[in-house]
Parts: sequence; C-alpha cells; structure tokens
Amino acid sequence: MTDVDKLQIQGGVPLEGEVRISGAKNATLPILAGALLSDGPVVVGNVPHLKDVTTTVELLGGMGATVTVDERMRIEVDATTVRNYSAPYDLVKTMRASILVLGPLVARYGRADVSLPGGCAIGARPVNIHVAGLQALGADITIEGGYIRARAARLRGARLVLETVTVTGTENLMMAAVLAKGETVIENAAREPEVVDLANFLISMGAKIHGAGGDKIVIEGVERLHGTTYEVLPDRIESGTYLVAGAITGGHVRIKNTRPDHLDAVLVKLQEAGATVATGDTWVEVDMRGRRPRAVDVRTAPYPAFPTDMQAQFAALNTVASGVGTIIETIFENRFMHMLEMRRMGAEIRLEGNTAIIHGVTRLTAAPVMATDLRASASLVLAGLVAEGRTEVERIYHIDRGYEAIEEKLLQLGAHIKRVPH
Ligand code: EPU
Repeated sequence: MTDVDKLQIQGGVPLEGEVRISGAKNATLPILAGALLSDGPVVVGNVPHLKDVTTTVELLGGMGATVTVDERMRIEVDATTVRNYSAPYDLVKTMRASILVLGPLVARYGRADVSLPGGCAIGARPVNIHVAGLQALGADITIEGGYIRARAARLRGARLVLETVTVTGTENLMMAAVLAKGETVIENAAREPEVVDLANFLISMGAKIHGAGGDKIVIEGVERLHGTTYEVLPDRIESGTYLVAGAITGGHVRIKNTRPDHLDAVLVKLQEAGATVATGDTWVEVDMRGRRPRAVDVRTAPYPAFPTDMQAQFAALNTVASGVGTIIETIFENRFMHMLEMRRMGAEIRLEGNTAIIHGVTRLTAAPVMATDLRASASLVLAGLVAEGRTEVERIYHIDRGYEAIEEKLLQLGAHIKRVPH
C-alpha cells in the first residue's frame, strides 16, 4: 500500500453478499488519546487497521508512551513512560484528530504543546471551543509559534456551555474533566455514539461520567484512572457506506458486526430511496434488486440527525436516482468537492451555497477522478460502482485513512475493483 495507489473500478455489477464492519475510526482515535489518562496499561480491541490509527500510535510513541500493536490490531498503551507532552505539526497536519491529546495531557501532566491544526479540505474547522473549555477548567493557554501551549496545576470542574455542538470538542473536554477537582457539566454536548463509547471507555478506567449520549454530560473528577481492556464500537459511517453501495448498484448487501440503532437516520433515507431494509441485533440488510433508487433530500446535522460523514455517499446515490434530490450541508462549509468530480462522470448537479440540487441521470460514465477528503473519496468509489466503463479513483490515501481494506470488502461483494500503483 503506497500513497500513490489508485483504485480501478469496472462499474455495473449489482453487489451481493455479506461484509463485516470494522471498529469505528472516530471512536478509536479519542480512546487511544484517552489512554494517556491512565495509571496502568490500557488494551483496546476491535481497532480498525487504518492510517489514522497508525498516526495516533506514532503520536503516542513520540510522547514516550509504550505502545504495542499485535497482529489482530489489539493495541496496548502504557502511558506511565510519557516524558514529552507535545503533538508536533508534522503529525497534526496529517491528522487533525491529534488535537484529542490536548485535554488528556493537560489533565494528567499539567502541560501540553499541541500544534494548531490549520484549515482543511472540508472547512475552516477552528478549535476555539476546545481552548475556551480548557481555560474555563483552569488551564493557562497561549498560542505561540503555531502551537497551543497549555499549562495547569490540577484542573477545576466548571460548567461549560458549548457554543456549537462539537464532537472532538466534547471529547477533549470530557477527557480533561475526568481528572479535574470537582464537578464539570458540559451543556450542548455532542450526542454522537463515539462520544458515548469514549465515555464508556473512561468509565471502565474508573471515571465518573453521567449523561453521555444526551446534551448534558456531568463529570465528577477523580484522583486517578486505572488500566482497562475495551472493545471499540462498530463504525456507523463504514456501515452506511456499504449499505449505499448495495443500494446504488441495485444489489442486496448484508453488513454484520454493526449497530443498527446508530444508523436510524441513514436507514430512513435508504427506505425513502426505495430499498427494503431489514435489521437484527448486529446486522442490517439492504435490498434494491431490480429497482432504480428514488432521489432523497438530505440535511446534515449533529447526531441523531443525518451525519455529515454520509452526505457524499447519498449524493452519489442521488446522481443515478429517479427524480431530484437536495443535499444541504450544515456542518462544514466546503464539503462538496465530490460534486464537482461526479459532474465529470456525467452527474447533473447544481450548487447553491451549502445546497446541492441533484437531477438523477440514467447512467454515469467512468472517468479518472480524485478527491481531497475521506468521505468524498468514498462517494467517488460508489459512483464508480455504477458508472459505465472503468473509473479510476486517485489519491486513495484519503480512503485508507478511514476504510479498512475497502477493495477487499467490495471484492467480497462481487465488485470489480483493483488497487493499482499509480
Ligand atoms: N467548531 C467550531 N469550533 C470548535 C470546534 C468545532 O466552530 O472549537 C465547528 C466546526 O467548524 C464545525 C462544527 O463545529 O462547523 C462541528 O465540527 P466538530 O467539532 O463536531 O467536528 P470534529 O470533531 O472536528 C468529528 C469527526 C468528523 C465528523 C465531525 C462531524 C472525528 C475524529 N472527526 O470532527 O469526521 O465529520 O465530527 O460529525 O471524530 C471523518 O471521519 O471523515 C470526519 C471528518
């Protein structure tokens, strides 16, 4: 696997079969950062084999943590050897989620030097809420030389009212508060399942957290946290992506090892698109055989509403659906790069600010395409699965950041897909 690989897809095959969903990227990253809070070794299982996970391991290793990864991707982190409290620019620029070490480092070691993430391909993505929250908990923070420099004696609990619902912001502040003195209340907290998974992980280390999954989280600080063994929850965005792959190709796909209850908003849209959806405890099946999808309207918003991380995939579905579908992106200001690439495949898309109006066409035609972020790249793979001819998706290192073994899983479903060197 190299950075210059591309994916070749011969479109037109209805997908059929079963695929196993990996652990959630966006739960694994905060959980690995949260391991910094522990006085004893932490073992994390159901970790997906992804570039962002490798980057996080490198980040923790650079701080002096003892990290081992076994062949099943179980990761053990011993943070008692940490001697360096920084997240350097070189790593943060490749993975914004590095900001997640800020809260744990300040809470546990009283200091952190974390490079400020810059803008990124999907929007400005400031971290002002992370910084203001830590200040309210008593950290002294300066921005110097592109770094957030935070210093604190023991943090003190406080009432934090978040200005905007932020996933990693909520996670960072929750991790800081677990070792603070006294009670912290986070109002307007993110309700994403990944926030709940992080809370459950911290609770398994002895943290006192109530209300995760709601918009008010109450944390009673403790003196120390102990080691634990924890299994990461299944990835709901990977789940949704394979379900759309089934629907867009007029196929029949079952995903297993997933959490259907985390997919409500996505399953409703698949049904609206005309798919037959069945669910069990840990599986979901989508059946679109013999039918063309109907266009659906989607508006992204924080959980439990429709996720921004599934917007691009539904845009792909709309490009070949009957009727007109509107996609409204309310979370990030620049998350429509895939629309321009899909147009190059024959899609009819009009963009007006944060709204994309998509007139379904009867066929897309293959083209070389590339994207600048993870979910956009995934949506181009989906478009390639239905396009006539051979689509080449370039810069697939974006996909490797968030989809474990995507070509193997799609091959398993009967897709004609191949990873080739550029
Ligand atoms: N925001 C601020 N100030 C802050 C923090 C956020 O204004 O201090 C704004 C952002 O600019 C954005 C909104 O708040 O407009 C929500 O962003 P959020 O902070 O929730 O995003 P994030 O925590 O940086 C996580 C996921 C993203 C996912 C978003 C939204 C991780 C590691 N990343 O990002 O995942 O799109 O939540 O659900 O959990 C992906 O996996 O492809 C991905 C981009």
